[in-house]
Amino acid sequence: MTSPAPNYWDYLKLDRLLGLQGGLEDDEGKLLSDELHFIVVHQAFELWFKLCLRELREARDHLASERVPEEKIPRVVHHLRRGSSILELCVDQFRVMETLTPQDFLAFRDKLIPASGFQSFQLRELELVLGLDEQLRPSYAGKDPLDHIKQLAETSPSGQLAWQRIEAARQELSLKEALREWLYRTPVQGKGPADGDDEETVSRFLSDYLAALRASSEGKAERLAAALNDDPGPFRERIEEGLRAAERFLWAQDVPEGERARMRRVRAGVLFIESYRELPLLAWPRLLIDTVVELEEQLVLFRTRHARMVERIIGRRVGTGGSSGVDYLDETARYRIFDELWAVRTILLPKTAVPPLQNAEQYGFVR
Ligand code: HEM
Repeated sequence: MTSPAPNYWDYLKLDRLLGLQGGLEDDEGKLLSDELHFIVVHQAFELWFKLCLRELREARDHLASERVPEEKIPRVVHHLRRGSSILELCVDQFRVMETLTPQDFLAFRDKLIPASGFQSFQLRELELVLGLDEQLRPSYAGKDPLDHIKQLAETSPSGQLAWQRIEAARQELSLKEALREWLYRTPVQGKGPADGDDEETVSRFLSDYLAALRASSEGKAERLAAALNDDPGPFRERIEEGLRAAERFLWAQDVPEGERARMRRVRAGVLFIESYRELPLLAWPRLLIDTVVELEEQLVLFRTRHARMVERIIGRRVGTGGSSGVDYLDETARYRIFDELWAVRTILLPKTAVPPLQNAEQYGFVR
């Protein structure tokens, strides 16, 4: 007997999917339509998180190979772009959540305690797969938000699953680490880490760049003061502090000594790609960096948008998970995972001011 032709509902397992909205009662008929809405919106987000995780892991795997052939970079960009579009859509999706009025939410909110988005293990995985430095995650009431899930793991089987997934994600290579490895190998002025004179070339590039940055700041404080009819002193100080911060960043003085040489090369790699972005062989790497920045921008927008939605629906009251609510959520929008990609933007120079390019032919550019 031939098997029946595929159909839409079996392929999508719609019977099961559409039977999963019963809430704590396990009976959709007993739910207010506002609660059904609350469940469907959250489930839709979790489905998007699932896909986003898959895309990020694929991007990471392509990037993690020892040599990343040029033709693989468009694949990495493709996966990251999909991840970024998903997050962008999630930001918009909060509009649907906001049709829930504060009073209608209060009708069923208390029965959720202590359940909370805190326990979204997929969002935690997302943070870890991207490469969040866990020291940066804000605490609430002096506790790590992940302790919340760990505690639940001790008493419930589903909590155990959530905890296992987080622990497994902690062991994975993150996108940030894979990206750093790749940036570390980026040829700077035509030289790579395997070349004997690489360290010297990288140091010269960084010194030349810092000198160009200083030159471009000449007279800026005075021009600003003249335009604003103000005292140039404070502007001069601010600009000088910016230059000192650029030095600390490019010489990697903010990282432990043992990691400094590697980090210096990683940062030189980002700066080089951004500064000579018009070179044919740097066009895709530049787009890759831009896509990662866009992805993190969407994640930050997701967090900011979520916080505004929460403020609109519950005001500034304590969350069902026990955090301070909106203040805690705003804090989660402050840190950056891909810190060097963002930091470089502060010190970029116009094309006419960057140090002269050497070994141009290695970047597919023939004068
Ligand atoms: C009426 C709607 C919502 C309210 C009032 C709300 C409120 C909150 C609050 C107050 C927190 C902080 C933790 C706590 O103390 O509970 C939180 C965390 C969180 N919520 Fe929501 N939320 C809502 C909808 C959503 C939706 C639709 C999503 C989508 C998945 C979501 C995802 C999250 C996540 C991932 C966190 C953890 C953030 C972090 O710790 O980094 N929330 N939510």
